[in-house]
Amino acid sequence: MKNTDIVLNHKLFNEKLNKIENDEETRIFCKHDFSHLMDVARICYILSLEQNLKIDKDLIYVTALLHDLGRADEIDTGINHNILSQNIANEILQDLDFDEKSKSRIINAIKNHRTDADNPDKFVEIFYKADKLSRMCFRCKARKQCNWSDEKKNDTVIY
Ligand SMILES: [Fe+2]
Ligand SMILES: [Fe+2]
Repeated sequence: MKNTDIVLNHKLFNEKLNKIENDEETRIFCKHDFSHLMDVARICYILSLEQNLKIDKDLIYVTALLHDLGRADEIDTGINHNILSQNIANEILQDLDFDEKSKSRIINAIKNHRTDADNPDKFVEIFYKADKLSRMCFRCKARKQCNWSDEKKNDTVIY
C-alpha cells in the first residue's frame, strides 16, 4: 500500500511512535503502540468489508497509523490527543498521495475517534468502533482500575 508505506518510513511518524512506546513502557492500561495501530487498521478494514462500504484500504491503514500519534505530547501540552494527532496528521498528509477529499476524510476520522456519535461519513463511525473493539478487556490485568464503563469493555473476541 503506497501511502501506508510512506507513513511507515516517515520521520515524524517514527519519532512520535517511538516516544509513545518509550513513555508507555510501564503503562498498565491499554497501550498505543504499533500493535494497537495495526489492530485498529485490520478491524476497521473488516468492518468496512462486512458493511460493503468500499473504503480504500490504504486510507484505512493510514488513518489507523496516525490516529493516536498525539499521545506523544498529550501530557506535556494538556491538549486532547485527537486534536494533537490531527495536527501531526495534517503535516504527514502533505507528503502522501491522497486527494483533498480523502485527506479530509482521514482528518475527520482522527478528530472524532474518541466520540461515539452518528456521522454522515460511515467511515468515522466504523473507525471509532474499531478503536474500541481492539481492546481485549477480558485479558486485561488492569481491568479493575480502568475507567471504561462496564458496557464499553469487551468481554469476548468479535474480530
Ligand atoms: Fe486514541
Ligand atoms: Fe487508539
